[in-house]
Amino acid sequence: MAKTRTRYQCNACGAESGQWNGQCADCKAWNTLEESVVTPASTTNQSRYEGYAGNATVTVASEVQQSELERLDSGLTELDRVLGGGLVPGSVTLIGGDPGVGKSTLLIQSMACLSQQLPGDKATLYATGEESLQQVSMRAHRIGLPTDKLRLYAETRVESIIETLQRERPRVVVVDSIQTIFTDALNSAPGSVAQVRESAARLVRFAKQTGTAIFLVGHVTKEGALAGPRVLEHMVDTVLYFESDTSERYRVIRAVKNRFGAVNEIGVFFMSDRGLKVVKNPSAIFLSRHPEPVSGSVIMVTREGSRPLLIEAQALVDESQLGNPRRIALGLEQNRLSMLLAVLHRHAGIAMFDQDVFINVVGGVRITETAVDLAILLAAISSLRNKPLPVDLVVFGEVGLAGEVRPVSNGEERLLAAAKQGFKQAIVPASNVPRKPIKDFVVHGIDRLPQALDLIH
Ligand code: TYD
Ligand code: MG
Repeated sequence: MAKTRTRYQCNACGAESGQWNGQCADCKAWNTLEESVVTPASTTNQSRYEGYAGNATVTVASEVQQSELERLDSGLTELDRVLGGGLVPGSVTLIGGDPGVGKSTLLIQSMACLSQQLPGDKATLYATGEESLQQVSMRAHRIGLPTDKLRLYAETRVESIIETLQRERPRVVVVDSIQTIFTDALNSAPGSVAQVRESAARLVRFAKQTGTAIFLVGHVTKEGALAGPRVLEHMVDTVLYFESDTSERYRVIRAVKNRFGAVNEIGVFFMSDRGLKVVKNPSAIFLSRHPEPVSGSVIMVTREGSRPLLIEAQALVDESQLGNPRRIALGLEQNRLSMLLAVLHRHAGIAMFDQDVFINVVGGVRITETAVDLAILLAAISSLRNKPLPVDLVVFGEVGLAGEVRPVSNGEERLLAAAKQGFKQAIVPASNVPRKPIKDFVVHGIDRLPQALDLIH
C-alpha cells in the first residue's frame, strides 16, 4: 500500500506546500496553510480521469448535439433572474453568504416549490448536514410551505449521498453545507480544504453525468470570501453571493460567476417573518426619503445587472484629529474613494486632506461600477460645505484622472427610471443627455468636474 503523506494546503487558494509556512507562497495570504493528508494516487487519479463530462473523443463543435437549454423555474423569480433565467439541469450552483443571511431559507423555499411543480414524488432532495431534520421541517412548516413532496435527508458522508441520489434520481438537490460534507477517501476533518474540494468534485461529477441540478451552500469567512478553497468557485457553473448584512431587511444576491447567464445580475429579496419574499421592483427600495434636504446625501443611479437602481449615497466629511485622516467607504472600494478625492483636489481645487471622509451606500448594497463616481464626490462636497443638494436631484457619471466626466452605459434608461420615481433633475455626463427631452425632467450635461460644482454651488 502506498504511504500517505502529509502536505500543507492554503485554504484561500488551494496551493500546496511540503512544509508549514506562515504565509502562502502563492497568494500571499497569512495563516492559511492547513495540514492535509494526501491519499495514494491510485484512488484519486482514477476518479479524476473519469472526467466531468465523460466523452473522450475529439469532435467538431458544430456536430455536438445541441440540446435545447431547458430551464426549471426555481419558484422565486429573483432567483431565476440571477441564475440567468431559471435553473439549468446538470448545473452546479454555489451559494455563499454570512451565517443567518438566509441561504437555507431561500433553498428550502425553492425546493418546496420545485417539488410541487416537477412530476413524480422524488424530484427533489434536500441533504442537510448542519441542521437536523426536525429543524428543517419545522422551518418549512412555519413559513407555510407545501411539504408533502419535500424530501429531506440528514447525511454528511458524500458516498452515502451519492448512493442515495443514484437510487432516488432526484432532478434537483441541495447540499447544505459543503463544509460539513466529507469523503471516506481522505482522512482530514470535514471542512478542511481537501475534504471540501474532493467532496464537491464528486458531487459535480455526479451532476454532470446524470443531469441533476445541484445547489451547494458555502460559508463565508469574515473577509467575505467563500471559506475553504477558492478552487470551489472554479469547479462549479454558477456562484451566487448573498451580499447584504443580516441586519438589513433586504437581501441582495449577486451572480459573481455564471456559465448560463450574465454576471453581476442581482436579485433582491425581503426577509419577512414568513421567509424570503421576492422584491419585484427594487429600483426605489434603497432610498431613504428625507422630508427635508440633508447635507451629504445624494441619489445615484447605478445599473447592477440588467436594471437601473436608485441608491442613496451618504457622505460625512469632518475635520480630522489624526495625522493620517480616515477614508472609509462602505459598499464601495476604498482606493477608488482616495483616487476621487485626489481628482477633486487637483481639478476642482477642493482639498480634504485635513478631513476624515466617510461614505456609506444605503441598504448594504455593494457598488461595483464606476458610474457612481460623480455622485460620491458631490455627496462629499455637500457634506464638507454643509449644504444640501436638491431632494429631486439624481447624479451619475464616471470621473477620470484628468478631471473629465465620462459617459456611462444605458444613460437614458437610468434617467427614465429616475423620472419614474418622481425625480425632477439630473447631473450627468454630456454624452448621456438624451436627444429627446424627458417630460418634467431637466438634464444637466457636463464634460468636466468643475462644471458640476457650478451647478450645485
Ligand atoms: P437561514 O436561512 O438559517 O440562514 P443561513 O442558512 O444562511 O445561515 O436564515 C435564518 C435567519 O433568517 C434567521 O436569523 C432568522 C431569519 N428568518 C426570518 O426572519 N424569517 C423567516 O421566516 C425565516 C425562516 C428566517
Ligand atoms: Mg443554513
